[in-house]
Formats: sequence, C-alpha cells, structure tokens
Amino acid sequence: MARKFFVGGNWKCNGTTEEVKKIVTTLNEAEVPSEDVVEVVVSPPFVFLNLVKSLLRSDFHVAAQNCWVRKGGAFTGEVSAEMLVNLNIPWVIIGHSERRALLNESNEFVGDKVAYALSQGLEVIACIGETLEQRESGSTMAVVAAQTKAIADKVTNWENVVLAYEPVWAIGTGKVATPAQAQEVHCELRKWLRDNVGAGVAASTRIIYGGSVNGANCKELAAQPDVDGFLVGGASLKPEFIDIIKAAT
Ligand code: G3P
Repeated sequence: MARKFFVGGNWKCNGTTEEVKKIVTTLNEAEVPSEDVVEVVVSPPFVFLNLVKSLLRSDFHVAAQNCWVRKGGAFTGEVSAEMLVNLNIPWVIIGHSERRALLNESNEFVGDKVAYALSQGLEVIACIGETLEQRESGSTMAVVAAQTKAIADKVTNWENVVLAYEPVWAIGTGKVATPAQAQEVHCELRKWLRDNVGAGVAASTRIIYGGSVNGANCKELAAQPDVDGFLVGGASLKPEFIDIIKAAT
C-alpha cells in the first residue's frame, strides 16, 4: 500500500513574531513536491499558531505541540483539543519525549491523550522512542512496543494517526540513527501493528523518523522501505527544511 510521505516540523519552544514570519516566508517561497506526494505539517508554539496559520501556504498545514487529555475546564495553563478544533488547527503532536521526560507523561497518559484528541477530530502525530540507556541495554523494541501498546489500548481508528519513532539519544544531539537502525525499528513497529492491531493498520499507518534529521542525511533515511517521513526539530527552523521535504519518495 502506498503511504503518502509525511514531513513534520516541530519548532519546539522557539521563535519571535519576526522570526516566525521569516520562516513562513521561506516556506511559502519554496518549490516542493505536490500534496499528492508529500504532506507537510509545521508545529509552532501555541502562541504563534494563529499567525502561522494565517500566513502559511495552503498546501502546508499546522499542528499544535500538545493538547490536554480531556475536555477543557479548571486546568490552568492547558490548551484543550476543543480549542484547537475551534481554531481550525488540524494536527497535534502528542507524547513527545521531552514532555515524557520533563513532565512525566506516562505511556498511559499519552495513550489517553491520543484517544481524546482523535475523538475531537484532530489528526495526531504520536511520538515514541527509547533512551540511550534503554538502547544500550537491548530493550529498544520492548520500550517502543510498550509505548505503542499504550496507544493501541485506547485507539480503535488509526486513520488519523502518524507514529513518530524518535530515539531520545538522537534528538538534538546530531547523532542521527543510521538508516539501518531506523529501518530495523520501523519494520519491527509495523510488524507489531500487524500482529496486535491488524494488517490494514500496519500497511497504512505512516511511521516517521525523528532525531537529528537534516538536509544531508534525509535522503538515505527516506530511502528505507518503512521510513514514511520525518519529524524534524532544529532543521525545521532553517531553509534546509525544504531539502528535507524534497527528499519525499
Ligand atoms: O520532534 C522532533 C524532534 O524531537 C527532533 O529534534 O532537533 O533532533 O531534529 P531534532
């Protein structure tokens, strides 16, 4: 089954109004493959969502970097899925390793968040990934399988889910996974989906890679059969993000 290539840009906690406008101008001026070939979703901080959405070209889309686990209310500081829907923000990143580590977001909490966001009509980039210690102890697949199971336990319809494998040891370190390392985990994750969710979901769900992707390493990674795209951090703030989009296969 053909899976449309997906390139996400996670801007994390970065930017000023002027910097955001400059990035969007660079994106708007870029010549890239059509939407039929690659799906591009950029994720600014909450405070810039409306600005980016108002300026961004119509063939690119926006995502929030998180949303709350249930209907809004007395949850100071949180942003609800309903608010994102109200703002016509179609995508949301959930379970990023930085939130899992810094805010103690558990596998179950991430699973609940993914399910709630989907229930409100959002499309979800669901993040998983092991730490260096877990990889070095040989527990990579056990870890990412448990993270994926926590999502599968709460999600019945995977149509609006993109699974982002982001090895924590590759995020922001410049130590990108080798194409073989990425392919190995992506292939095992697809097998896990086939065995535990279903063959159709396994075949159609995009599994994207994140962790030090840049203009130089993206093509070799994109050439891997089970790498369906990227979730890009630092490089998504730079013009080389366009090169990564052009790596779409
Ligand atoms: O969500 C993507 C991010 O975690 C990857 O960051 O800077 O290693 O591309 P970076």
